[in-house]
Amino acid sequence: MRIVKKILVALDGSIYTEKVAKYGGDLALRYDAKITLINVVEPPTVVMPVGGMETSMPMVEIELTNRIVEEIESNAKKFLDQNKKVLESKGLDVDILVEKGNISNTILTIAEQNNYDLIVVGSRGHGDIKRFFLGSVSDKISKHAHCPVLIVR
Ligand SMILES: Nc1ncnc2c1ncn2[C@@H]1O[C@H](COP(=O)(O)OP(=O)(O)O)[C@@H](O)[C@H]1O
Ligand SMILES: [Mg+2]
Repeated sequence: MRIVKKILVALDGSIYTEKVAKYGGDLALRYDAKITLINVVEPPTVVMPVGGMETSMPMVEIELTNRIVEEIESNAKKFLDQNKKVLESKGLDVDILVEKGNISNTILTIAEQNNYDLIVVGSRGHGDIKRFFLGSVSDKISKHAHCPVLIVR
């Protein structure tokens, strides 16, 4: 019986991305599993002054925030697509997913709701605090996932 049919691979576009995708892809080949490459865009927090919208949050700033998020999303699509092509050339069935929200919560929820059997993440990503072995995303996913997690270092 195959126990790994769907693999969720979390990519952040950092130097870990290629290696994480490779491990996900290799496991997908061996398990004959479907693979989804996911990137989550966390919108920047807009700090509102007490009292509401009418005071000092000009509309231009909100538009700018939206544009930045769109820019990040389209960049995410690009690097996910590049990795998808590489994996498809090995004969894999690959989907890509760009989501908005809190990074680790979004990955955890999608994995559980869609019955993924394995999550693959890098030990670190873009962050430059090297004091810890795990970044906050990989740390939270490894602790709270409903399924096994492979941490690629
Ligand atoms: N925005 C994201 N979308 C998808 N996966 C992510 C995202 N951010 C981090 N990850 C996953 O978590 C791994 C560890 O990243 P993270 O915990 O953010 O460490 P760091 O603090 O070094 O950035 C990444 O290699 C990637 O697999
Ligand atoms: Mg990070």
